[in-house]
Amino acid sequence: MSRGRFITFEGGEGAGKSTQLKRLVARLEAEGRQVVATREPGGSPGAESIRELVLNGAADRWSPVTETLLMYAARRDHIERVIRPAIDRGAWVVCDRFADSTRAYQGAAGGTDPALIAALERFILEDVRPDLTLIFDFPPETGLARATARPGAEMRFESKVMAFHERLREGFLAIAQAEPERCAVIDADDTIEAVEAQVWSTVQARLAVHG
Ligand SMILES: Nc1ncnc2c1ncn2[C@@H]1O[C@H](COP(=O)(O)OP(=O)(O)OP(=O)(O)O)[C@@H](O)[C@H]1O
Ligand SMILES: [Mg+2]
Repeated sequence: MSRGRFITFEGGEGAGKSTQLKRLVARLEAEGRQVVATREPGGSPGAESIRELVLNGAADRWSPVTETLLMYAARRDHIERVIRPAIDRGAWVVCDRFADSTRAYQGAAGGTDPALIAALERFILEDVRPDLTLIFDFPPETGLARATARPGAEMRFESKVMAFHERLREGFLAIAQAEPERCAVIDADDTIEAVEAQVWSTVQARLAVHG
């Protein structure tokens, strides 16, 4: 059986990642593909328990380094139990946030040494790397207004100051620039339908999907 594909959605809060992920999954399923939709932090029972610790409570509850280690503990469990088995059986895995969120949130915006993050990627991700990463780019003010309007939102990251969110945006754009073969920037400051069209044409072009 042929290996599946691994697509990740990245970007700041309220950029429309979760909205668009559902739409991409529906399109891929309509083509008859086996799709696993998942998210981080979380995506497996153990990782979801860690998610509770990381996303709730005071903004300074964890230092950036502690947060990095919690994210990577969760990520390893998610990879072992969900992502790798799905790719191995030929499924397309579509994941709402992945390793680039650690680079941007805990690294670029939080100040964790990029060398620590690079070492974790090497030992914890091993060969589980996205085939395609869509980076949703969006002015943080609009994104935060969208995200905080949602009922029941987990607010720990949303509550950080605007300068944090500006560094976050720059961090994601720097990743896209450094790895253009893997990453594509999506202009998320548009209607849901227009963003959906950008996502679909990018997936078709990069992963040779027919449709
Ligand atoms: N293109 C759009 N135009 C207007 N509103 C949108 C658009 N895309 C999503 N929204 C709305 O904005 C809110 C945030 O969208 P969504 O939850 O998809 O963002 P997200 O990137 O997943 O955020 P988070 O990082 O916080 O999970 C939702 O209420 C959604 O319905
Ligand atoms: Mg979301």
